[in-house]
Amino acid sequence: MNNFEYLYIHWPFCNSKCFYCDFLSFCKLDSLKEEYNSTLCSQVKSLKNNSKIKTIFIGGGTPSLWPVDLLRKFFKELKSSFDLTEIKEFTIEANPADITQEKLICWKELGINRLSIGIQVLDDNVLLQVGRKQTVEQAINAINLSKKYFENISVDLILGLPGVDDSTWQNTLNKVVAWPVKHISVYLLTLYKKTRLFDLVKKNMISLQKNAKIASLYNSTVDFLEENGFMQYEISNFSRPGAESMHNMAYWERKPYLGLGLGASSFDGNIRYINEKNIKKYLMQVESPLKFAEHEVLTEQQIFLEYLMLTLRMKKGGDLRRMLYFLSNEKKERFFSNLENLKELGLIFQDGGRIYLTKKGFLLENEIILKLF
Ligand SMILES: C[S@@+](CC[C@H](N)C(=O)[O-])C[C@H]1O[C@@H](n2cnc3c(N)ncnc32)[C@H](O)[C@@H]1O
Ligand code: SF4
Repeated sequence: MNNFEYLYIHWPFCNSKCFYCDFLSFCKLDSLKEEYNSTLCSQVKSLKNNSKIKTIFIGGGTPSLWPVDLLRKFFKELKSSFDLTEIKEFTIEANPADITQEKLICWKELGINRLSIGIQVLDDNVLLQVGRKQTVEQAINAINLSKKYFENISVDLILGLPGVDDSTWQNTLNKVVAWPVKHISVYLLTLYKKTRLFDLVKKNMISLQKNAKIASLYNSTVDFLEENGFMQYEISNFSRPGAESMHNMAYWERKPYLGLGLGASSFDGNIRYINEKNIKKYLMQVESPLKFAEHEVLTEQQIFLEYLMLTLRMKKGGDLRRMLYFLSNEKKERFFSNLENLKELGLIFQDGGRIYLTKKGFLLENEIILKLF
């Protein structure tokens, strides 16, 4: 991997584990932060080339827990290994409880120009119930402080958390659209196996909202955000005009990217590479160049499926010619007959050579992909 414009960096440490979270993240392993930083540094060094980076996204885990001295050290290495002079978008994910003036100043100095803050919902009881260690007051303070340093702020919300009634959700939306933010991600709660929330639901200790309820809330959320100037450009993403996330668009458009850090993936257009996911094994690479633990050469069928899945997530839809390119005549016929069917059901619409999911279709994306596939 030596030609990429998009860079992802994974910081896997958190202060506590939210009950719904399935991301590769750990709490109580703080003693490994320094070694992790050194591993990242040596991997960056080993990749030194002339790639001109357009976007960087530091995700996690909780990147706002990256100690500033270690972060500065890492950036020194990054700057001497790649060309960062033409960065357009540089995002760090942050939890409200960690945002301090010192960190905001450091992030700004390093060239970070976009904050993605995990708000989830503005209700202390709901947050407590799902093990999210943050309060509404912290969220509001974090926004007030961040706006002094950053113009481009995005917030994450989760729709469908247990215990959120209509008025709590609407109150969250009312507040968030009035904040100085340019981008809002609204994720539908996914119940992952092996999470604490999954166990609590299984034991009937927590009940989730019904799908029909979530669907109706999703529809009203899309309308409300659009009425307030946040236009939907992807199933879960809304922005003020021109503030769409360039980094995420690169994933959905299948552009090559490099992923650094534990379990991060990279993509060169045909092959997907995955870094070591086991932290102990990963840290054994502290003195070595980046080694991918797994890789998968995508077949034409997988490329077709990926294109279909990623492109239909976006409001701008997908190019039919590119989809058909990978299909045999027999499969093309089946594809068109399924497409007609989905159009009649009001789940897809076609305009010239492009197809798009309708609002109803966005909620049934997985089923629609299976049908088309
Ligand atoms: C992996 S987190 C990293 C950022 C940061 N640690 C945080 O929690 O805010 C990125 C976002 O994923 C979303 N998320 C995490 N688990 C989810 C789940 N089970 N269902 C839906 N969204 C989820 C949350 O909105 C979160 O802000
Ligand atoms: S803070 Fe973010 S990454 Fe960490 S456990 Fe919670 S949702 Fe997962």
